[in-house]
Amino acid sequence: MNQTQATPQATNQKRILTGDRPTGKLHIGHLFGSLQQRVALQHQYQTFVLLADVQALTDHFHNPALVRENVLEVALDNLAVGLDPNVSRLVIQSQIPQIAELTVFFSNLVTLSRLQQNPTVKTEIAEKRSLFGESVTYGFLGYPVSQAADITIFDADLVPVGEDQLPQLEQTRELVRKFNSIYGKADGAGILKEPQIQLSATPRVRGLDGNSKMGKSLGNAVYLSDSSVTVGEKVLTALTDPLKARKTDPGRPEVCTVFSYHQMFSPNAPEIALECRSGARGCVDCKLQLARSINTQLEPIRQTRAFYQSRPKDVMDLVMEGTREAGAIAEVTLARVKEGLYLNYGFD
Ligand code: TRP
Repeated sequence: MNQTQATPQATNQKRILTGDRPTGKLHIGHLFGSLQQRVALQHQYQTFVLLADVQALTDHFHNPALVRENVLEVALDNLAVGLDPNVSRLVIQSQIPQIAELTVFFSNLVTLSRLQQNPTVKTEIAEKRSLFGESVTYGFLGYPVSQAADITIFDADLVPVGEDQLPQLEQTRELVRKFNSIYGKADGAGILKEPQIQLSATPRVRGLDGNSKMGKSLGNAVYLSDSSVTVGEKVLTALTDPLKARKTDPGRPEVCTVFSYHQMFSPNAPEIALECRSGARGCVDCKLQLARSINTQLEPIRQTRAFYQSRPKDVMDLVMEGTREAGAIAEVTLARVKEGLYLNYGFD
C-alpha cells in the first residue's frame, strides 16, 4: 500500500468523532448522510471514525460473526469514499474498553422514559417489531448512552452526522451537562467536553421502494460496492410516480423516488423534471439514465475500494494503529472521569 500512517497531528487541531455500525456494507444513504461530510472535514479536524461493533451487537447480538466481517467492509467503504488514512483514524469500538466503563457511569444519569422517547430509537424499535416481532433489550434501548460515551471519551469537538442521529447527539449533550454538573469541579470546570453537531446538508435518502429510509434490513439499498450491473438492475425496480402509467403521461417528480436520486446524482436534474412533467420522458429511459449517473459517481469509489480490498492485512494494520492512538486518548479522559467519581484508587 502506498499510504503510510502519518505521525500524530498538531494537538491544537479540533477533533471529530463519528462512526458507523458494522452490520453490513455502506450504501448511498450513508454516502450523503455522513460519509461525504467526514471526508470534506478531515483536513480541518483530527478525525476519528468509530467502527461501532459494540453498538452493532446491540442489534445483532445473535450474529457476532457478521459484525466481525463487516468491520473490514465498513473500513473499506470509508477508505473507498476518500477517507485519507494519512490524516484520519479508523477505530474499533470494542477495543476501547474505556467506552464501556464510561457507559456504565452515564447510565445512572438518564431515565428510562428519556430513552424511550428518543425518536430514532422509537422508529428502530417499531421497525424491528414489524420485521422480526422482537421485543427490546436493555442494551438496544441504551445504545444512545454508549454512543454518548463513544463521543465524549475522545473529547470530540464536532460530530458530523445525518439527521437520524440528531436525537442521539442531543442526548449526548444532555448527558455531558448532567455529568459535569454533578462531578465537575466546584469552580464549574467540566470534566467532559460538550460536542457540537454538524448535520448533513442533504436530505435523507429514500429507499428504492419509496420508503423514507434506505436501510439494509429494509432490502431497499444501493450499496457503494454494488457493481454497475447490480446498480442498473436495482434502479429498474425503483418506485416512480404511480399515476404516471404510460410513457406520455405527465409525471410528478416531487413524489418520484427515481427523481429524488436524480437530484443527488444527475447534474441535469432540472431538465429531467421539466421533461417528466410535460410527458416527454418515460420512466424506463429515466431509470436507465439514472443508473448511468449513479455509476459515474460510484465508479471511482469502486476502484478505490478494490485497491484497499486487495490489501486486507494493510487495512487491518491501519485500523489497529488508529485504535491504538484512540486508546491512548480514551485512557486520559477516563482517568479524569474516575477522579470526578472518587474512583481513582491507583492500584497497579
Ligand atoms: N449510531 C450511528 C449509526 O447508526 C453509529 C455511531 C456509533 C456513531 N457511535 C457513534 C455516530 C458516534 C456518531 C458518533 O450510524
